[in-house]
Amino acid sequence: MLAMPESFSRTQALYEKVRRVIPPADWALFADDVEAIQRLKRERNAVILAHNYQTPEIFHGVADIVGDSLALAREAMKAEADVIVLAGVYFMAETAKLLNPGKTVLIPDTGAGCSLADSIRPEDVRLMRAAHPGVPVVAYVNTTAAVKAEVDICCTSGNAKKVVESLGVPKVIMLPDQYLAKNVAAETNVEIIAWAGQCEVHERFTAADVRELREAHPGVTVLVHPECPPEVVAEADFAGSTAAMADYVGDKRPPRVVLLTECSMSDNIAVKYPDLDFVRPCNLCPHMKKITLSNIRRALEDNLTPVEIDPEMAARARTSVERMLAL
Ligand code: 13P
Ligand code: SF4
Repeated sequence: MLAMPESFSRTQALYEKVRRVIPPADWALFADDVEAIQRLKRERNAVILAHNYQTPEIFHGVADIVGDSLALAREAMKAEADVIVLAGVYFMAETAKLLNPGKTVLIPDTGAGCSLADSIRPEDVRLMRAAHPGVPVVAYVNTTAAVKAEVDICCTSGNAKKVVESLGVPKVIMLPDQYLAKNVAAETNVEIIAWAGQCEVHERFTAADVRELREAHPGVTVLVHPECPPEVVAEADFAGSTAAMADYVGDKRPPRVVLLTECSMSDNIAVKYPDLDFVRPCNLCPHMKKITLSNIRRALEDNLTPVEIDPEMAARARTSVERMLAL
């Protein structure tokens, strides 16, 4: 019988929430960090904002606020703490900093990037504007602050169609995700000019995957993220942001469901719905997985690593995010 650390029993109440998805031997390794992080949050008046793709020990064990990119941006705007730790990827921490210039925003690993954010530079946006004069530019939040500073408005997967239509024009540039752009274009009369970026996690799902899943698991409900290619979305029962997928499961309670997205998503939702059967093919996001309990703890102990953004650029990027949030 494995000897459990004393922190295990002191964090037992938290463990009860996640015992269906985290074995006791794993929690034994997490418990010290969970306890230390809870203490450090009180000492530093800090909050942890965690994306839906964070692992269950972060999502259920230490996060104060969880959600999709849109919810994290909204909550960052309301945050009253002195310190915000962003358990997610770098662009999410930058967005939190844009909305809280006077606060300390920490990203536990500065290498937590995003293939979409890496696919486009500010000079690319300027070239697109020059090629399409007068056409407004919508940037997915999965972009750097430098790119946000060049565009007219931001969007997330949760509000992309609404943002595009809010501009009241027949044509928009939407960047950098070509699949999100095509999926939005299929739902609106606005013509969309796309950039050729894609998410390295969602681009790997295929329409054949969906058909095989339906054959192997009769009656399964298939939910997908709109960063998947359009032919995958066409085969699915529902496409939506990570929060929209979680809401769909909560509202409709499909007895057997698969979420074609990042792996932690199903674990985090399964904790809430023990009666539902989650089929779990998924793809890992290597960037999201760079955030761990131990680097969150170190972030709070040693103030690592504060996000800094050039103030002039930040002011322009903030306007693009605030326009989105005002909708
Ligand atoms: P959501 O805004 O839907 O949470 O998506 C963020 C993301 O990075 C998906 O890959
Ligand atoms: Fe970026 Fe894709 Fe990872 Fe989301 S899942 S952070 S879009 S690489």
